Parts: sequence; C-alpha cells; structure tokens
Amino acid sequence: MYSAGILGVGCYVPEQVLTNRDLEEMVDTNDEWIVSRSGIRERRIAAPEEATSDLALQAARRALGDARLAPEELDLIIVGTDTPDMLFPATACLVQRGLGAYRAACFDLEAACSSVIYGLSIARQFIATGTYRHVLVIGSEILSRITDWSDRSTCVLFGDGAGALVVGRVEEGFGVLSTVLGSDGRAADILRVPAGGSRLPASHETVERRLHTLQMNGPEVYKFAVRVVERACDQALDQARIPKEDVELFVPHQANIRIIEGAARRFGFPMERVAVNVHRYGNMSMATIPVALQEAREEGRVHRGDHLLLVAFGAGMTWGAAVVRWSKED
Ligand code: UT7
Repeated sequence: MYSAGILGVGCYVPEQVLTNRDLEEMVDTNDEWIVSRSGIRERRIAAPEEATSDLALQAARRALGDARLAPEELDLIIVGTDTPDMLFPATACLVQRGLGAYRAACFDLEAACSSVIYGLSIARQFIATGTYRHVLVIGSEILSRITDWSDRSTCVLFGDGAGALVVGRVEEGFGVLSTVLGSDGRAADILRVPAGGSRLPASHETVERRLHTLQMNGPEVYKFAVRVVERACDQALDQARIPKEDVELFVPHQANIRIIEGAARRFGFPMERVAVNVHRYGNMSMATIPVALQEAREEGRVHRGDHLLLVAFGAGMTWGAAVVRWSKED
C-alpha cells in the first residue's frame, strides 16, 4: 500500500464582494445580526458569465502549478458540487476539457459540503492500491445561483468559490493518516433544493414557489453539525492514533464561527491553531476547506510534518473528517 498525500492546493474566489451592508439593502437584516449569529462579514459572488466549471478550472490550474504537475499526468478528476454547470454531463468532464487532461477518468460527487473529504478519501484509496498516481479533487460551488434572495434566513450565509487538491504518493508516515465518512438520510429534509430533479421537475409552479432555491432549517442543521463534528474528529484522531494535542492546524468547514469556536473549545485548540476565513467568504460549501487550507499556508501556518485535522458537514446530512500529516516543504 502507498501513502497518499496532498501534493498541491489551489483556490479561486470570484472578484465581486457582497457585504452585509449590501444585504441590508436587499432584505430585512443587519450587519450586527449576521456577524453575531454567523461571523460572516462579506462573501463573493460569481460574475454572470461564470459557471461552476470555470471556478473549478481556475482552482485546478493553481493546484496543478503548486504540485508541479502537467494536466496529462492526472488519472482521475473528481468534482464535488451542488451547483453543476448542468444536470449532465458531469462538471468534472468540463474541467477535463478545460485542462486538456485527457488521460483522466472523471466524475462528480454529491456529498454537499462534505464532498472534498469524501473526494480525498476516494483519492486516497486509488493511490494506496497503486491504481492511480494522481487524482484531482475539486470543490466548486456557485450557491448564489440557488439562493432565494428574498429569504433572509439563508441568503446572508452563503458565497461562491472553488478549491482544489492534487492527491498523489508521498513518503511513508506522511499524507492522509485517516478519513472518516458518514451520513444520515433521516435528516435529508433539513437542508435541500426541493425541485429540479425527478421528484419535482421544473415547471412554472416550481419556479413561482421558489422551489429551485436552497431551503434550510438553520437551527436543526446547527445542532446536527455540532454533534457530528465532534464525533467525526474523535474518530479520525483515534484512527490516525494522533492525540488532539498533536494537531497543529484544525481546518473545519466554514459555515458558522460559533460552530467552529465551539469545536475548537471542545478539543482544546487555541484559535491560533484554527483556520478561519468564514468572515471573508461565508459558506462556500465544499470549497471552504481547501480555500482555508491554502490561505493558512500562505500565512506560513503549515509546515512539513504538521498534523492537520479537517472536518466538514453538509446536506444529506453528510459529514467527514481526515487527519493529514503535511508532506510539502512549505
Ligand atoms: O454547510 C451547512 C450549512 N448550514 C449551516 O451550517 C447553518 C447552521 N445554522 C446556523 O448557522 C444558524 O442556525 C443560523 C445562522 C442559520 C441562524 O442562527 P440562529 O441563532 O439559529 O437563529 P434562528 O434561526 O433561531 O433565528 C433567530 C431569529 C428569528 O427571529 P425570531 O423568530 O426569534 O423573532 C429569525 O427570524 O433571527 C431572525 N433572523 C434574522 N434576523 C435578521 C433570521 N435570519 C435573520 C437575518 N437577519 N438574516
């Protein structure tokens, strides 16, 4: 079995910034409520001509550059997204075309905000068995296209962005030490886009009733998240046989600062050891972890040999956690 690790990271966020003040003009909300309940101050919004594969492609090119890898060296491209360019073909195939990575197999995966941890876990299996050498895992999302901009309980929380990881062989003792995945379909209704699939195909009525936009029971998602984040982190640390004191950087899904701070307190991580950027980007779904990781690297907070604890939760409900021993000479 080979050890699999992260060879490169890349991210891309659209230029347009939407602040809490801007939202005050759109719905009955205020900066104080948004900041105190979620920690979010601003988020990015994709340009009208940008689609999810465009964001993904930018992040992918940067990740390949970081890994010093040519597109034709990729064996597999996995895109996690809730907002694919279209129902089919897979957004991963569109990214393949953009990159010219024609040796790769491609598919999309749908584990909502947990998709990058799911993708990392799948990539790790293919690398460990020797089936593939290089897997590109991308989380890319344009949530602004499925946001109900008249619903103040959701429209203040989300943003657009993409993050990519190149996964490949690393030295023994480094790389992904554990991954934990989970889901609970009993909670499938607390966060969803009801229409546009086979249950409720698009019709004038579904459009009028805004059933193509994201609907969320925020407090239920919150309670669920607190529970699964703690459990998944405990399990991932146990499997990796890493005591929590040895975690140099905690990289949680960026949905709400209160969930992040609660988890950090529970594990005894001081905030200097936690990657946080939810104030700048809001919840970019599966893009949050690679973007937060890349920004932590750029701030000089990630070093070879460090233990990183990644954790995510999302619609489904799904969750995932991973312990990674950083192998790059940052
Ligand atoms: O990737 C996974 C995605 N989702 C999440 O992780 C979300 C998890 N949940 C949360 O982050 C929090 O539940 C929220 C931030 C969504 C909401 O915070 P909360 O403390 O759970 O507030 P709440 O939903 O219980 O709402 C409290 C009050 C309500 O008014 P009343 O009924 O108490 O009078 C809401 O109507 O705040 C009101 N409210 C707002 N007020 C101003 C809801 N949204 C807003 C708003 N501005 N944008």
